[in-house]
Amino acid sequence: MRDPETPRRALVVLTGAGVSADSGVPTFRDAGGLWEGHRVEEVATPEAWARDPRTVWRFYQLRRAALATVAPNPAHDALAELEREMTARGHGFTLITQNVDDLHQRAGSTAIAMHGRLATLACERCGATTEDRENVDPERFVPCAACGHARLRPDVVWFGEVPRALDAIDRAVRSATHFAAIGTSGVVYPAAGLLSLARFAGAETHVVSLDAPENLHAADRFHPGRAAEVVPGLVRQWLDAW
Ligand code: OAD
Repeated sequence: MRDPETPRRALVVLTGAGVSADSGVPTFRDAGGLWEGHRVEEVATPEAWARDPRTVWRFYQLRRAALATVAPNPAHDALAELEREMTARGHGFTLITQNVDDLHQRAGSTAIAMHGRLATLACERCGATTEDRENVDPERFVPCAACGHARLRPDVVWFGEVPRALDAIDRAVRSATHFAAIGTSGVVYPAAGLLSLARFAGAETHVVSLDAPENLHAADRFHPGRAAEVVPGLVRQWLDAW
């Protein structure tokens, strides 16, 4: 339980590719804007899927298969511990991730996956979603078990599509007392705008990143470094103070 002298905190954490970099998942911008040799518009737009589904499918199937080769790192573990402790002490805690890997979930966090998840597939016709980590053959589409349509699509948000759970995210950020952006370059909106929104709403804002992100001006504190090294210490500091 929380010490009655300690005010209730409401912490919102936003993570990006940098939090998974220490698990061996490549980030986007570090690869010069190319995703495994592809320009974003070749593989991460609804237009690309309509024009060349085989290339898009192959690209995502390789990323889906790669999920089995990575594991959560100390940053994921520390955030899962923070959620458990904050909740047990009666504080508020919300984790929002832009990552489509499932490392937060595997570490034990309840993450809002605003850009979708690689571990699920969605039917482009009936909308049914299904958890699927088995069918990762890059050359074979997976049919929909619900309606029989010939191919499911990756259950991720592509450029030009609307990110998930925006209302819940907006509510959490506007009522945050503290906000931390971890391992995100601050260039892809609407996620990149959450740091400013939190500060505007009165939260104390923190940034953890290897390089200074584009939106660093909206941070009260910058903690430079690798997420796996910096986040466990920051979590310990918060838990000691709260
Ligand atoms: P980026 O690849 O744009 O940025 C990764 C950030 O993490 C950079 O600022 C790096 O400095 C930092 N970084 C790299 N390694 C790190 C480490 N070990 N520890 C801490 N920080 C590290 O990734 P995102 O900001 O997540 O969107 O990209 C946002 C969105 O753009 C993605 O969700 C995706 C992409 O296009 C969609 O798919 C819709």
